[in-house]
Formats: sequence, C-alpha cells, structure tokens
Amino acid sequence: MDKTYPVVIAIDGTSASGKSSNARRVARALGYVYVDTGAMYRTLAWYCLQHQIDYQDPKAVAAACRKWKTRLECVENQVRLTVDGYYPEEEIRQSNVSMVVSLVATVPKVRQWMKQTQRACLQFGNLVMEGRDIGTNVFPETDYKYYLDAQIEERTRRRQAEGVHENLAARDQQDSQRAAAPLMIALGAKVINNSGLTLEQTSARLLQDIQARLKADGR
Ligand code: DC
Repeated sequence: MDKTYPVVIAIDGTSASGKSSNARRVARALGYVYVDTGAMYRTLAWYCLQHQIDYQDPKAVAAACRKWKTRLECVENQVRLTVDGYYPEEEIRQSNVSMVVSLVATVPKVRQWMKQTQRACLQFGNLVMEGRDIGTNVFPETDYKYYLDAQIEERTRRRQAEGVHENLAARDQQDSQRAAAPLMIALGAKVINNSGLTLEQTSARLLQDIQARLKADGR
C-alpha cells in the first residue's frame, strides 16, 4: 500500500469484547487518532429519540440521516461527531439509546452515510477505528484487521461490572444477522479471543502484531 497514505487499524468484534478499551490503548501507544464508530450510530439513535423520529421506520431514519447537521471534529486525538454543534457524549451511553441503536444500524442508507463519514476521518491522519464492519466494509483495503471476541459469560460479566444490564446475545444476533454489512470476521483478520486475558494482555498482543506489520511495511 502507498506509504504516504494514512494507516488504518480496524478493530471489529462482538459487544463487550473490549474493542473500545483496547482501541483507545493502541491509539495512545502509537499516537494515532481513535475513532469509535459505535458512538456515531448511537448519536443517530439519540437524535431520532430526541426528535420523535420513528426509529422503527427505516425511511424516517434514513431521512433523518440525510438531513441532520453534523460535523466531524478531532479533539485530543479522538474523533467526535457533533450534531447542531453539540457532542452528546453522556446521552449516547444511556439505556434508551442502547435499546434502539442496533435497529437504526440495520438501515442500508444509514450504513452508507456512516461509511462515507467514517472514511472522511482520514483527514485526521493515522487511525485506530473500532466497530463491527470496519475491516469488512468501511476500510476493506487495510492490511491491519483485528477481530476481538470473548465468551458470552465473560462479556456479560464485564458489562455488569460497568453497571449495564444488557442482553448481549440478542444484540450480537441482531448485529450479525442484518442484511447490510453484518458483523463478521474480515478476510485476513487476526482473531483474538480474550476470555481470561486482561486488558493489558490483550492490548499487548494487538500492539505486538501491529508493530511487526508496521515494520514489515517500512512504516
Ligand atoms: O459498539 P457499540 O455498542 O457502541 O455499538 C452500538 C451499535 O452500533 C451496535 O449494536 C452495532 C452498531 N454498530 C454497527 O452496526 N457498526 C459499527 N461499525 C459500529 C456499531
């Protein structure tokens, strides 16, 4: 790949598989920009709830996504999607948003918009981007693809420790079975099952592999 082109590290995986914490650590260690694509889907779900848009109606959600006024910003090496100049950082983590986000993420027009917006993050430089379809759909051309997973019992425990009670099996199923860009392991992705591994151990494995590949690519 062209060495003047930014490096994109794609980290996909199931819910509560440690994507966010690991992607953050990896980005910090490399000095890359961190992009949480789930937060972008959550922002649209929050926007629909705020504006009484029927999140069960794909046409209404697609129309909202066409019209909303957003901006990408990079603050402290982290990308933010703002709506009408506002960054709903806390709001998008609330349970009402978690309950509807998977549904909003099934709408093909929404996924098209997200892909375009996520690719536009290249303006900020080298990226560590986490999500469900980064290696398969958003940046299929990258050589740096990772897929994180852990046993469902462990993932449920992790969420509970964060005070979040969520049906992860249902969410995984919804994310894996949608027609548009479902969650799956990208061709060539390195799979890390981190059941029984600490966050430090998982990110050390990621970093070791990334650094070896960067070296091999002369980066
Ligand atoms: O990672 P998260 O829990 O914040 O993601 C929220 C939802 O967004 C999740 O149910 C799946 C969806 N999502 C997606 O479909 N594609 C992505 N690249 C990121 C998230």
